[in-house]
Amino acid sequence: MERKQKHRNARDTLRHILSLRIPATAFQEAAHLLVPETYPWPGPEEGNRKIGFGQCGLVYAVSSEPGAVVKIARPHFGDSLRADYVAHERVSKIFSAREWTSDLHDISRIYKDRGAIHAKLPKVIRLEINDSAATLGRFVRQKAQLKLHEPEVKLGEDNSPGRTVMANALYTSHIPPLSKPVRDALIELYCPVEKRDSVHADPTNVDCLVRVYLGRRRRIGAPAPPNFALRNYNLHLDQMVDLGLPVVRYAAAMGEALADMHWGANVDAFDVEFVLGGPAADIDTASSRSRVKVADLWLLDFNLCSVFVVEKVYEMEGLEELVDHLVYAFFANDPYYPHPSRDDGSGGRVGVVNVELLVWNAFKEEYLWRSMEIFRSQSRVARSRYGNLPAAFLDGCMEKQRGLDPGVDKITD
Ligand SMILES: Nc1ncnc2c1ncn2[C@@H]1O[C@H](COP(=O)(O)OP(=O)(O)O)[C@@H](O)[C@H]1O
Ligand SMILES: [Mg+2]
Repeated sequence: MERKQKHRNARDTLRHILSLRIPATAFQEAAHLLVPETYPWPGPEEGNRKIGFGQCGLVYAVSSEPGAVVKIARPHFGDSLRADYVAHERVSKIFSAREWTSDLHDISRIYKDRGAIHAKLPKVIRLEINDSAATLGRFVRQKAQLKLHEPEVKLGEDNSPGRTVMANALYTSHIPPLSKPVRDALIELYCPVEKRDSVHADPTNVDCLVRVYLGRRRRIGAPAPPNFALRNYNLHLDQMVDLGLPVVRYAAAMGEALADMHWGANVDAFDVEFVLGGPAADIDTASSRSRVKVADLWLLDFNLCSVFVVEKVYEMEGLEELVDHLVYAFFANDPYYPHPSRDDGSGGRVGVVNVELLVWNAFKEEYLWRSMEIFRSQSRVARSRYGNLPAAFLDGCMEKQRGLDPGVDKITD
């Protein structure tokens, strides 16, 4: 009985917090989940603490700059980190412009869903170029000495603790992790019983972010994955639906963000990530007296992104290839985005909601809406030349999906 109650409480916690905005009427009920938590920022004696890693870089909380993280390029990934910086900056600019116009001027907010959420971006702080292969270009060469107290990091020849490495380094703001009640609830609901104690005890799980896989369900009957960790926990569509999370709003926010990246920033969005994390420390226009912000959807990781110049592509008569490339990037990404025309397992039974279709439609509509807004602010020539590209991209995605084998949600070639 106690077990069942714990299970119910865990579900309620995730439903409340991962809805991102709590109605003020439910605030009392959820107040115990909102007790502020201090993030254990590393002090000078600890040095920078690793909080994540990927193919391109290792990510550290910077002991001397509370609130800043640094992504340090692995050997041979220096250029990739510059690409990360360039794309991240471009996307930041268009996100800020959107936030500003939609706050102050945009009539569309009045009749669009007032509960809409918008993806957040970590702020770019600075890029430091330190690798020997760095070309000077428009970057200032400076030497940042990064003390890394972590023996297992393989960043160069010298692998001793407390050493100094020279590598390109991108500083951005820290995405706050999800709070302790959320971490405990994820363990309660999804962690195999025999691993729970060790997962609770593992201090790395304090850096808890949840990947939003709107384009993938868990396979029925599949064995539990061998590793359970709260850093980048993959939350699948079936889990989100089961918890009653606002999948349609997540989908719309991703559609808006992708339109911003494509047509506002001219970035192909290759391999970007969407995660649920703690709330951004900004003024949130979607919050009001009736709604309180408790978490946010975040967009990160631009190191594999390319920037395109639409005019040049047009002059080279390459608009079709551009659309093909964007479609390719859409399917090569991890399955964050909803995918078109997925079977939801209803077997066509009447009365069963086709969730896949619902999220795809929300994504599609918001993508088109936002693209239209972007093109509306451009010249008439640009509008007539490029205004049909967003629809061509969506058609291309639907076409591509039809050609994929059932169950394929990511292409790897
Ligand atoms: N600004 C940030 N705040 C908190 N965690 C971050 C931040 N940037 C990256 N991370 C964590 O580090 C991981 C690796 O960073 P990422 O940018 O994806 O590197 P890579 O390009 O090597 O994949 C991410 O998946 C995330 O868990
Ligand atoms: Mg990554």
